[in-house]
Amino acid sequence: MTVQWFPGHMAKARRQIQEKLQLVDIVFELLDARIPYSSSNPMMNEIIKHKPKLIILNKVDMADPNVTQQWLNYFKEQGQPAITIDALHQNAIKQITEASKEILKEKFAKEKAKGLRPRPVRAMILGIPNVGKSTLMNNLAKRKAAQTGDRPGVTKAQQWVKVGQELELLDTPGVLWPKFEEKRVGYNLAVTGAIKDTILTLDHIILYALDYLIQHYPQRLIERYHLSGNFEDKVAVLEEIGTKRGFLQSGGIVDYDKVYEILLREIRSLKLGRLSFECPKDLNQETVSE
Ligand code: G4P
Repeated sequence: MTVQWFPGHMAKARRQIQEKLQLVDIVFELLDARIPYSSSNPMMNEIIKHKPKLIILNKVDMADPNVTQQWLNYFKEQGQPAITIDALHQNAIKQITEASKEILKEKFAKEKAKGLRPRPVRAMILGIPNVGKSTLMNNLAKRKAAQTGDRPGVTKAQQWVKVGQELELLDTPGVLWPKFEEKRVGYNLAVTGAIKDTILTLDHIILYALDYLIQHYPQRLIERYHLSGNFEDKVAVLEEIGTKRGFLQSGGIVDYDKVYEILLREIRSLKLGRLSFECPKDLNQETVSE
């Protein structure tokens, strides 16, 4: 199910999250490592204000390692702590706990100097739908944690989940809305499967994805679909894929719907290898045109 984010929902999500923020030392902003900019909420920093933040690039197992390194460098240059995780396959407790303690070390040193007893770091996870919030909760809580569902904001009375000895998490992640304004963002969310029901049509999504692949991963396309490497005309490339894979209707005409479906499925299931759809240098580029 996809949520329609109306202004009222956004205001409510924002208000509820800001109430919970008072309870925590740090926010974990969960992003999709393949599209860190497109999977961020446009108002995150405004919502959390000066609360310390750890950026967690999730689904790193699906992202291009070279591009992920560029993103880590980018965040470092900005003075923003960031780590990468694969919440589905790897235990992330140690990495997240260590990174949080590092960010909060001055605060905790001050508390210690005042004679306060050592205590766990208190944190909450925030992110747009589908970045892996529930998966990370389950990973950290070592049990089936509450589903975030698709409802905006924090939807339950909060409870603390103990994560090891040094971290406590609010058990319900905060759900925030995605960026709506930039067309490129919508395409990136659609290609990676973050939004399923979208006003963008499948053919436009595929043409966008194909264009990105031709520019950034031409060799992967050539190898996967045994292509000639002539990428001038994208429709001709789709036709070549359809012909090579035998997606033909009667009369030998290429079944483009089948080509779209397979291409999208294969991109999402790593058949073309680990792909990223956004580099830090893309941030200043014009948004795509139709
Ligand atoms: P959310 O709470 O933020 O909405 O996201 P959720 O945890 O439900 O995760 C969304 C999808 O992403 C899930 O796939 C989940 O398994 C997958 N996922 C989460 N973290 C990782 C990761 O680190 N690596 C990989 N490879 N996948 C991850 P799903 O249930 O199959 O949903 P869908 O793909 O059909 O949307």
